[in-house]
Amino acid sequence: MQALRMQALRIISVTALAAVALTMAVRAGGEKVAFPESYAKGVLYTTIDRADIKQYRELFSTPEAVAALKAGRPIPTGTVLTLVQYKAKLDASGQPEKDANGRFIKDELVGYAVMEKRDGWGAEYGDDIRNGEWEYQAFKADKSVNDKANLRNCFTCHKPLDKQDFVFSFEAMKAAK
Ligand code: HEC
Repeated sequence: MQALRMQALRIISVTALAAVALTMAVRAGGEKVAFPESYAKGVLYTTIDRADIKQYRELFSTPEAVAALKAGRPIPTGTVLTLVQYKAKLDASGQPEKDANGRFIKDELVGYAVMEKRDGWGAEYGDDIRNGEWEYQAFKADKSVNDKANLRNCFTCHKPLDKQDFVFSFEAMKAAK
C-alpha cells in the first residue's frame, strides 16, 4: 500500500515537473519573438469584429507571405503575423457602435498578439503542442511583453489548424489584395 502510494506520488510529481518544464519551454520560446516594430508597413489583410469580447482587431501579414499563399506555397520562414487588439467603441448602453458598413469602430489600443515562424523553431516541443515552426508572444499596448499571457494557450488553440499552417485567417490572407 505504502509502496503504491509512493509510486503514485512519484508519477504525480513527474507529471507536474513535465508541466512546469513545458510552461518554461513555452515561455522561453516566446522570448524569441521581438516586438514587430514595422508591422504596419506590411499588409493589413483583414479586420475582425469580436462581439464576444467587444474588440476590433486588425490583422497584419507580410507581402511575401501573402504572395506565397496565392502561389500555393507555405508561409515563408521569417514571417511575422501581428494581430492588433483594440477596444470597440461603445454606445451609451455599452454595446459596440457600428460604422456605415455595420462594422465596429476602433477605440483604445489593448495589445498585440504575434506569431513568428523561423527555421528550426519549435523543435523542443512535443507533438501534442508543437505548432510547426511558429512561436507566439503577447505584447501590451506599450509594446512590452505581457507576462500575464499564458503562451501555452496560444499553441493549444491554434493547434487544430495544422492543415492551414496554424493560421485561423489563412483564407483571408490568401485573398488579400
Ligand atoms: C481560444 C483560442 C485562441 C487562443 C488561446 C489564441 N488565439 Fe490567436 N487566434 C484565434 C482566433 C479565433 C483567431 C482569428 C482572429 C479572431 O477571431 O480574433 C486568432 C488569430 C491570431 C493571429 C492572426 C493569425 C491567425 O491565426 O489568424 C495571431 C498572430 C494570433 N492569433 C496570435 C495568438 C497569440 C500570440 C496567442 C497567445 C497569447 C493566441 N493567439 C491565443 C484563437 C486563439
